Amino acid sequence: MSQSTMRLQSFDLASQDVASVDVEWLHGLSLGVEWPHRPSDWDLLRSVGHGFVALDEIGRVFSSAMWFPYGADCATIGMVITSPRVQTHGGGRWMMEGILRQCGERRLILNATRAAYSLYVSLGFEPQATVYQCQGYARPVVAQGDAVETIAADGLAAVAALDAAAFGADRSALLARLAPVSEIRGLRRGGRLVGYAMRRPFGRGSVIGPVVAASEEEAVQLVTALLDGQDGQFVRLDTRQAGGALRAVLHAAGLPLHDTVTTMTRGAPLPKVEPGSPGVYALAAHALS
Ligand SMILES: CC(C)(COP(=O)(O)OP(=O)(O)OC[C@H]1O[C@@H](n2cnc3c(N)ncnc32)[C@H](O)[C@@H]1OP(=O)(O)O)[C@@H](O)C(=O)NCCC(=O)NCCS
Repeated sequence: MSQSTMRLQSFDLASQDVASVDVEWLHGLSLGVEWPHRPSDWDLLRSVGHGFVALDEIGRVFSSAMWFPYGADCATIGMVITSPRVQTHGGGRWMMEGILRQCGERRLILNATRAAYSLYVSLGFEPQATVYQCQGYARPVVAQGDAVETIAADGLAAVAALDAAAFGADRSALLARLAPVSEIRGLRRGGRLVGYAMRRPFGRGSVIGPVVAASEEEAVQLVTALLDGQDGQFVRLDTRQAGGALRAVLHAAGLPLHDTVTTMTRGAPLPKVEPGSPGVYALAAHALS
């Protein structure tokens, strides 16, 4: 056949609850934009969040967007994806507008890729910080914290209280969901929990996060404790530390910088990370902040 072109008719998309579709559709959608999520990662996110997908007339999923409530007045937004075939036709904006209606008056946090940045600016989000996605096959590191302890399920209330002090909102429901699939380490001073870190299966291997500590030094102690025994395994950690001891340890441990995203908020600024008070040194996930 000689070379020729034709224009296919466009089609309509309808929105539906993200909980209602087969996880394989979601997995295909995230693979299509080269995200590492496994079906089990989507299932975990669907168990703690809400959102919807856009489907065509025969049930194919072309778009997704989710939000994750933390207490009554805060939420994060994530898993905003439009299939490359239908990008730049207004789908992302339509999905985001639906999510914003569901979130109501909550203050909002999200982590923007370059492709999504201008969309979020136009919806009232303001940049707060760069997130450094560090990952790779772990090399042996010297554990730097003799005092690091393992935290069991019955220690979760103290973890949630510490997390709220650092994050600025109640993430106890999320932490209760992460705990059964996570290794959890903690640091105590005067009997009081002052730092915690989690590691769980994610994407190509595992992710270390959240990490909350009162100083970068203590964050390093927690992270090296969770890197212990991971030699040769693929590990990821997302931090807002632009440099310093944590980034140096990650680099030495085989987790160099891979990519960056921008944390943006609407309604309130992101809590600062300052030595002496609880701060977030690693994200739970891009979608969960
Ligand atoms: C970001 C993404 C969801 C946008 O979806 P979309 O359906 O193309 O979005 P829309 O067509 O509604 O476009 C929204 C705005 O972003 C702009 N935009 C879309 N793609 C862009 C790109 N690659 N770079 C810069 N701007 C872009 C559009 O011009 C549009 O602006 P306008 O409304 O002022 O004209 C989509 O590109 C995507 O899935 N990317 C890969 C995954 C990703 O990065 N997700 C975001 C996670 S934070």
